[in-house]
Amino acid sequence: MQTATRPLSQDAPSPCAASAKGPRSRNAPTDSAFKTVPPARRAIETPGWMQATLDDALLGKFLHLVHTVCGISMAPSKRLMLQTRLHRRLQANGLTDFSSYYALLTSPEGRNGELQAFVDCVVTNETSFFRERPHFDFLDDATLTRLAMEGEPGHLAMWSAACSTGEEAYSMAMVAAAAAARLPESERWRWSVLATDISIKVLAEARRAVYQAREFDRVPASLLSAYVLRARDGASDAVRIGPDLRKHVSFGQINLMHERFNPGRVMDVIFCRNVLIYFDTKTQQEIIARLCRHVRPGGLFILGHADVLRDTTLPLRLVRNNIYERRKD
Ligand SMILES: C[S@@+](CC[C@H](N)C(=O)[O-])C[C@H]1O[C@@H](n2cnc3c(N)ncnc32)[C@H](O)[C@@H]1O
Repeated sequence: MQTATRPLSQDAPSPCAASAKGPRSRNAPTDSAFKTVPPARRAIETPGWMQATLDDALLGKFLHLVHTVCGISMAPSKRLMLQTRLHRRLQANGLTDFSSYYALLTSPEGRNGELQAFVDCVVTNETSFFRERPHFDFLDDATLTRLAMEGEPGHLAMWSAACSTGEEAYSMAMVAAAAAARLPESERWRWSVLATDISIKVLAEARRAVYQAREFDRVPASLLSAYVLRARDGASDAVRIGPDLRKHVSFGQINLMHERFNPGRVMDVIFCRNVLIYFDTKTQQEIIARLCRHVRPGGLFILGHADVLRDTTLPLRLVRNNIYERRKD
């Protein structure tokens, strides 16, 4: 059978014979067997949800929604922050513009679903253990014992009314547990902490009670060794609030904007710190008045250092550092 090729020596001299490559084989592929490379596609395309922007009109609608649902007065200058936070919600809902997202949030379906994720996105959750330390120093053994014996005798009921990821509630729990433990058993009172927030996301973290060891810098060493567990595999930086403390702390969702929120019992101590600063003056005073009804006469109502109590008609007496006592008269 004849091959399609001939010995190289029989090739006709090519015009390029002098080339270092030597003569071309007749089997060499022709250009017609190839096609041009299509223009390179852009390596990363910015997804639609990331390109969405909030114009003035939509920004106004979203700020109004934030105010109505959470009480938070967000300035229009927060446009970029809001836009960035909400981009994640557009992505999660497969949307590429804010007007469709607003329509979803205000639909009956959205009010029962997406609205919670929206709230979780817009609230500010900054917190820490033993934040604003003077409040915890004030709750010394004698004060806690007095508070525990005056109300429902032998039970100290405390409430962290915007607990974020739980650091405030567990700090309250540590001082209560330590004070009770220092008493002779026959005089020991019981205690409980209710921790609530509007955000389901932070409540889930608070229930988990797992933190990084460095977050405990301000926690007194004796409380750390008594109530905090370190991860068994020494490599991890994770620590967990111990079960002896956790079993006294319960969590729930309470929106302070709801007129008839109800913590379920009258409290000896309420902490409502670093949340009212995000509300306008009128909303702040309304919420303070509502919270005040849930502190028993003689109990403590503690605001954040930056909070301001303007309503002088409320039955509250300033003790110090934004710590108020509900008047007994
Ligand atoms: C900055 S954190 C303060 C946490 C803690 N009290 C402290 O002082 O460290 C504010 C918390 O208030 C919550 N919050 C905002 N609006 C609220 C509302 N209407 N009702 C209840 N909690 C709200 C937020 O979800 C957030 O966790």
